[in-house]
Amino acid sequence: MKKAIIIGATSGIGEELAKIFSQDSYIVGVVGRRSHLLKEFKREYPESFIKSIDVSKTAEAINQLKELISEMDGVDIVVISSGVGFINHDLKWSLEKETIGVNVSGFAAMQHFLSKGSGHLVGISSIASIRGDGDAPAYNASKAFVSNYLEGLRKKVSTLGVPVCITGIQPGYVGTAMAKGEGLFWVASPKKAAQQIYTAIKRKRKHAYITKRWRAIGWLLKSMPEFVYNRL
Ligand SMILES: NC(=O)c1ccc[n+]([C@@H]2O[C@H](COP(=O)([O-])OP(=O)(O)OC[C@H]3O[C@@H](n4cnc5c(N)ncnc54)[C@H](OP(=O)(O)O)[C@@H]3O)[C@@H](O)[C@H]2O)c1
Repeated sequence: MKKAIIIGATSGIGEELAKIFSQDSYIVGVVGRRSHLLKEFKREYPESFIKSIDVSKTAEAINQLKELISEMDGVDIVVISSGVGFINHDLKWSLEKETIGVNVSGFAAMQHFLSKGSGHLVGISSIASIRGDGDAPAYNASKAFVSNYLEGLRKKVSTLGVPVCITGIQPGYVGTAMAKGEGLFWVASPKKAAQQIYTAIKRKRKHAYITKRWRAIGWLLKSMPEFVYNRL
């Protein structure tokens, strides 16, 4: 049986993805900090493995991920969906620091399974990775890190010729606890987002916008001059 680990699967996109993998006969390893939600998942899907991991505590998290992989006797796909984001008008350092700790350090620490030289790594970045944002600068910058890091890993495995697949996912708005602020549009349900992500994973895509129509916004953001962007 194929095996997948979803990091950040106690809620939102990760939880929906974990359900889809489970329903498609994968053995699933479910990761997050909230133990009661992990136990709930295990009750619903008794075949699953659960592990409470705080990805921002990187040294501990790497060991715990290795433990989980060994308990599952290997893994084929690792999806890193863990993330935090805050509207931070006052640029409070505690919030910027938490964002960097989870989305940057925590993200980079979790790709360690690649050392086995095969498999499929999926990172959930964001459309926010394309431009900086005045209300959540650490969040957008952290997602730029994720997208760029994944591209770097793709280059590395291509140069080494190892059979590792790297997929970068760029969602627009998805209706989860993470989607904050006003003026949200084209908000996808977590289920729809997870279904499209699952299809992209099965097709071994290098990159996918979620939902698909966010490709147009991606193109707009990339081509917009800064003086126009600053007025949005
Ligand atoms: N919703 C959107 O509009 C949107 C748009 C673009 C990209 N994204 C990205 O999609 C991903 C999933 O977010 P979501 O929308 O599904 O929000 P969510 O429901 O808040 O899910 C976030 C997940 O990350 C986990 N997490 C947070 N901090 C963690 C830590 N220190 N260690 C381990 N796990 C941690 C949470 O689990 P615990 O709290 O149990 O640890 C939870 O399972 C994130 O990377 C987010 O940046 C979301």
